[in-house]
Parts: sequence; structure tokens; C-alpha cells
Amino acid sequence: MKKKVIIDCDPGIDDSLALMLALNSPELDVVAITIVCGNVPVEIGFENAKIILQRLHRLDIPIYQGEKAPLVRPYISAQDTHGMDGLGESHFAPVPGYEKKEDAVTFLVNALKKERLSIIALGPMTNLAKAFSKDETILSQVDEIVSMGGNFRSHGNCSPVAEYNYWCDPDAAALCYELFAKHHKKIHMVGLDVTRKIVLTPTLVSYMKRLQPEVGSFVESITHFYMDFHWEYEKIIGCVINDPLAVAYFIDRSLCQGFDAYTAIETTGISIGQSVVDSMHFYKKESNSHILTEVDQTAFMKLFLERLTGQKLENTGDYL
Ligand code: BDR
Ligand code: CA
Repeated sequence: MKKKVIIDCDPGIDDSLALMLALNSPELDVVAITIVCGNVPVEIGFENAKIILQRLHRLDIPIYQGEKAPLVRPYISAQDTHGMDGLGESHFAPVPGYEKKEDAVTFLVNALKKERLSIIALGPMTNLAKAFSKDETILSQVDEIVSMGGNFRSHGNCSPVAEYNYWCDPDAAALCYELFAKHHKKIHMVGLDVTRKIVLTPTLVSYMKRLQPEVGSFVESITHFYMDFHWEYEKIIGCVINDPLAVAYFIDRSLCQGFDAYTAIETTGISIGQSVVDSMHFYKKESNSHILTEVDQTAFMKLFLERLTGQKLENTGDYL
């Protein structure tokens, strides 16, 4: 049976790739997409989700626009990384005629009151924190939650210790982890320890173009800017695509390995946004997270390329 899931995201280049992967995956029934401010202001994220859905002929999926700012901190976008338009300065034509529905927080509360659903969170956790604090009873209706965010042993990407999604709205992430602890549930944390190993290189993009020219060219157009950013700041030829790994892991748990632990998110000081993972059980608290530390990059890349291009990959050998 397909898994019913809401994708909460801030598209965003890698969020867009994650949406493409999710919508090309028969295991998933994406019931809605909720947008949060993060990589780009929420209005731009909303427009970008429409662009992706239109390309995939899936404008039937509802999109709900969410929070414009983090719970406490001033909002800081990641347009330096994703481009002013959030799609690597591709400036695609807007998709007209898509009526705005209720706001994302109201939708999340109502949807979870009605049925058990899973959540894949690809942006700052503001929408989710607001929904859970509005009505804590909906937490029992969350089947599973996978969050791209945080880091355990790996360094941060916004400070020496903090990853962007948790750094952008540390109060929201902290609240979500606290509430999951209170309700004896776990967040699957797909952090930089594993996502940093997922690098889409120009060669892999060429490979995609050979397999499916239209999809490959689209991926090329949105990742070009992102690759330049990675070269400038990390001297990597290619780009780290964090968010698709969260979707892939949701589909296939064998792609990553990790351990259970109690995790809290720092909300002040120089380590603001840091995910403090109690791997040594200092706090003597029940686990509220499953922390991923290992990933099978080749298996991920095969799944990603096959799903996006619709082509079966045989005999790739060590190529991927
Ligand atoms: C995360 O932050 C965003 O820039 C990406 O979309 C990803 O969700 C990585 O730190
Ligand atoms: Ca994201």
C-alpha cells in the first residue's frame, strides 16, 4: 500500500529535486505540499512548488502556503545558495491560475485530525512547530516523520556547528524535538553526516541528459548556480543535494543506518541551531530521534537517477 505523506518544504533547488523524486515514486501518495519560509520567502517557495508540479503534470496535488517568518528569530533566507528565485536564477515563467487555499498550519492541524499521515520535512520546522503547538493531540496521528536537518559528527553549513534548517528556526526545531520526546515518538534526523555524501556532479547531470534530455536539461538549469556556490565555498565540483536523501530514506530504510538517541536543539548563543545528540546517554532521557550516520551513496544515486529519468539503470558497474 502507498504511504500517505505530506511534504513540508522550502523550494529551493534540492527541495525541487526531492519533490521530483517523491512524485515519481509509486510507494508514495503525496497528499499535500506545505511551504515554509526558508531558502526563499514563502511566496517564492509556493510559486516554485507550482512550477515543479506543472512539469510533472501533478497540479492536482494541493499546495498550502505557510509561515512567513521563524517563531522568534528574524528570517534569513538562503538565496545566496539557491538564487533569488530559489531555482538557481532560472527565472521560469510563473504558473497562473492556481487558487490559494487555507494556510499550511490550519491545513496540517485539520489533515492530521482526520487521518494518520507521515511527514517529510525538508525546510525549517516552523509550520510543524506551529501546528503541533496549536493542537498537541495531532502528534499521535503522525505516523512517521523524517526531517532533513541537523548534524551529529559532521560540521555545520551555517556555523561551525549548525545546519541551515535548524539554524534558520532553532526555536521551531527545538519545540518539535521536545514535543516528540513528550509524546514518546521519534524524528528520523537526516542530517549533514549523510546528506553531505550525496553529491550531484556535472558528469551525473550529463548522464541524466543522455537518459532523459528534458529532465536532464531541467536539472542542469536549476543546479548550475548551486554548483558554482559549492565551488566557491567548498571547492567541490558538483552540489550536495540534501533533501532528496530524506525522501529516498523514507521510501527505502536500507539506504541509511543510524542509532536512536535523545536530541535537543540549541536556541541561543554561538551554537544556536546546533543539534545536540546525546549519543553517550548523559541526560538519561528516552530517545526522541533516530540519527543517521551512514548512507549507501551508490544505491541512493541509482534510485534518484532511475526515478527522475524513468529509465532502468543496468550495468552501471562502479560508475555511480
Ligand atoms: C538544507 O537547507 C537548505 O538550504 C536545503 O534545501 C536543505 O533543506 C541543507 O542544510
Ligand atoms: Ca530544503
